[in-house]
Amino acid sequence: LNYLTPKSRQEVLDLLVTGLKRLEYRGYDSTGVAIDSPDNKNIVMVKRTGKVKVLEEAIQEHFSGGDYSEPVLTHIGIAHTRWATHGVPCERNSHPHRSDDGNGFVVVHNGIITNYNDVKTFLAKRGYEFESDTDTEVFAKLVHHLWKTHPTYSFRELVEQAILQVEGAFAIAVKSKHFPGECVASRRSSPLLVGIKTKTRLATDHIPILYGKDDKKQNLDQEIRPHGQSRELPVLPRSESTSEFMPLEEKEVEYFFASDASAVIEHTNRVIYLEDDDVAAVRDGTLSIHRLKKSLDDPHAREITTLKMEIQQIMKGNYDYFMQKEIFEQPDSVVNTMRGRVRFDGNAIVLGGIKDYIPEIKRCRRLMLIGCGTSYHSAVATRQLLEELTELPVMVELASDFLDRNTPIFRDDVCFFISQSGETADTLMALRYCKQRGALIFHINAGPEIGVASTKAYTSQFISLVMFALVMSEDRLSLQQRRLEILQALSKLADQIRQVLKLDTKVQELAKDLYQHKSLLIMGRGYNFATCLEGALKVKELTYMHSEGIMAGELKHGPLALVDDSMPVLMIVLRDPVYVKCMNALQQVTSRKGCPIIICEEGDEETQAFSSRHLEIPRTVDCLQGILTVIPMQLLSYHIAVLRGCDVDCPRNLAKSVTVE
Ligand code: G6P
Repeated sequence: LNYLTPKSRQEVLDLLVTGLKRLEYRGYDSTGVAIDSPDNKNIVMVKRTGKVKVLEEAIQEHFSGGDYSEPVLTHIGIAHTRWATHGVPCERNSHPHRSDDGNGFVVVHNGIITNYNDVKTFLAKRGYEFESDTDTEVFAKLVHHLWKTHPTYSFRELVEQAILQVEGAFAIAVKSKHFPGECVASRRSSPLLVGIKTKTRLATDHIPILYGKDDKKQNLDQEIRPHGQSRELPVLPRSESTSEFMPLEEKEVEYFFASDASAVIEHTNRVIYLEDDDVAAVRDGTLSIHRLKKSLDDPHAREITTLKMEIQQIMKGNYDYFMQKEIFEQPDSVVNTMRGRVRFDGNAIVLGGIKDYIPEIKRCRRLMLIGCGTSYHSAVATRQLLEELTELPVMVELASDFLDRNTPIFRDDVCFFISQSGETADTLMALRYCKQRGALIFHINAGPEIGVASTKAYTSQFISLVMFALVMSEDRLSLQQRRLEILQALSKLADQIRQVLKLDTKVQELAKDLYQHKSLLIMGRGYNFATCLEGALKVKELTYMHSEGIMAGELKHGPLALVDDSMPVLMIVLRDPVYVKCMNALQQVTSRKGCPIIICEEGDEETQAFSSRHLEIPRTVDCLQGILTVIPMQLLSYHIAVLRGCDVDCPRNLAKSVTVE
């Protein structure tokens, strides 16, 4: 950072800690920060187990005092909040990791270095001792080794050489006491962006990419190989970009490397999204972006984009938790998903991202919907409608299982990859597995979702898939009446969601009955089976209570054995084509002394007669019921979590974006 106005190290720390808080939903097992010591000769690190708040307190203790309040013009600090993959959450395993006990190079990393054992063996043979159980530490030590063996290399070149040796996924930022005022960052598979804050608008919208020489030697055998057979590292030729070409030279500029925009939006809305294997270096107020090798279709520059996001979107406002805010945003987020796409008057739907390909998509033989967690449930929720309106076989797949099975894919399949974050490793791997002839994007436009438990993204994904089904059936005469019915229901949905949200107090009362129980069974079928799965997932992840979503048709084949007068059961019984079958299940439960909570339609006294506890939701078309029935489940899991004293936005052991397999 070459500051716009001089900043003290304490201000740098504040800035880093606020950034971490914004990113906390990505992981919150442990945290750490590294800045320069007041004499600029050393790097000082503070790490803590737990959330950013704990780090913040430690920082206040550690860095209070005159030395750290001295303003400086240039400073690089790095910080990290971790979701443990390798090594338990503890201070020793927290980032930043260091190359040596003199803190020569310090590194923060997201992702997994899959060949870390081989790198470790290589380095251990050269005398390196490891102090953590993480994969990340090898990267810091590898850079150090390269620095020792190639003393003339620049900082950026050292990192460039190091990333050639590692496999797996990473977004990495490195700081070094040997290169004060410099920072080098790179990514592969894990997201990374650069935020640029300047006083006046930048003269350029692009940063040229500097390419290395396309030298054949880049295909050298990997040195770091399994079973410890190691030689010296093959160091590739230096890239051409060692010239003093300065692509973005600003006197007063602050640069931010971050995993996502929420960390930088309060400073700047101008960002560059880095691509895989880009190496971005900041030195003396200059940002340059490098790649070692140019392939034919590589662009010449990275674009500086202007974020549309507003800081309010990632703030809690008057709500206690992000999840609560996001549940209550649903009347608006579903409208945003449909905005500009659904024309209620003309009975028309246009999906800009895929419209040119619809004729081709319509010729497919099979639809596959692939996702993880809640995103997968949105596929389950809309499968039946897709089958009905496309008359195609529709497969719904968990991305991890889809990959495990090496699922056969044919040229005339159309595959959907559903993801709120767009970062889920399993889903992206499945996408790569299938992607042979390009991919199209269709945004759900639900706005940022910070709560780890997904809520509004689900309802927006749901609607996106419904819109797709409507597009696929636009020229089918026999389906026009059905399409009209769905479109009319879509137009009323936002108001109906508002109505369902009014159940909040009633749901809170139910939560008081339930929160001390060990288990909750959620039953339904047809269009509401997905709500059962999603409801049970919400309960599990937020409250740590056991919960199971049960297909009511399967009740008699096993789960009924769980039912007695003390087992909490929730049943979804709506006036749709499976109503009679749901009533059978309801009777099977009540005749075993079960006393279910029933989610039913407004004014349906016949169904309500089966239980003293029920939640009434407004009537809508069958295929959209799932949107209205999932909201009480979101509210219920939220209230149970609060009553059980759980951290609603940061459930234990979980993270919002799971960028590892
Ligand atoms: C994580 C989150 C879930 C989410 C799933 C898929 O496990 O905790 O809430 O549903 O990933 O995420 P995606 O971003 O691909 O929708």
